[in-house]
Amino acid sequence: MESANTYWADRALLEWQVELGATEAICDAPVDRYDVPAAVVKPKTAPSPVNSIDVSPEKPDAVQVATQAASAAQTLDELSAALGRFDLCDLKKGARNLVFSDGIAGARVMIVGEAPGRDEDLAGKPFVGKAGQLLDKMLAAIGLGRDRADAPVYITNVLPWRPPQNRDPKPDEIAMMRPFLMRHIELAKPELIVIVGNWSCQALLGKRGITRLRGQWTQAADLPALPMFHPAYLLRNPEVKREAWADLLSLKARLRDG
Ligand code: URA
Repeated sequence: MESANTYWADRALLEWQVELGATEAICDAPVDRYDVPAAVVKPKTAPSPVNSIDVSPEKPDAVQVATQAASAAQTLDELSAALGRFDLCDLKKGARNLVFSDGIAGARVMIVGEAPGRDEDLAGKPFVGKAGQLLDKMLAAIGLGRDRADAPVYITNVLPWRPPQNRDPKPDEIAMMRPFLMRHIELAKPELIVIVGNWSCQALLGKRGITRLRGQWTQAADLPALPMFHPAYLLRNPEVKREAWADLLSLKARLRDG
């Protein structure tokens, strides 16, 4: 009842104002027109000489930017800093830390893993979680270790930032990180590379299929390279530890003979 009354009262008031000549609604408070900020004048864009419709700024080519940034780095510290400045990989936004490397640069063996997991993201170091602990045991079994001054290894990953929920790397992520990885190998100067897991094979050999590739010496970045099962895979499939052991022995023999 109350609202119907208000409706008719408001309507009568409005009609009365229209009869008086009111033509527009204004605010309760007056506007000081002298104090209104000047309207921003948009610069007129010259019409494009070609019939292009897309006027958005061009997205930089991530692989090209990565290649330039990586090749400008003259030391591992500079390469790590260049990665820290590289903003074209979305993984960086979700990661806590850049995971660059561990072990001793200049070691005869460089191990290339796939991507940091949760533990690595927190620590800022590769292979520190369960898979990393198994990797350390595997290396120790053939007399190597990331902290062993007499028989060191140097460790990195294809991706320096953790993918969300540990999902697989995307092809464009691998493509834009590859120039950094190749420069990393050049600057670390290993004698040979151990390629750990499928995605590392994808980045360094251009193919996957670790069950077929493992144990077969090949070339990557112009160096002898041995693909091996990823320790995380060995944790899930202990029955293939025998093959991993054969590959470790092959690595040991190569180091002894090389
Ligand atoms: N798996 C990888 O490939 N790299 C790491 O650093 C950790 C787990």
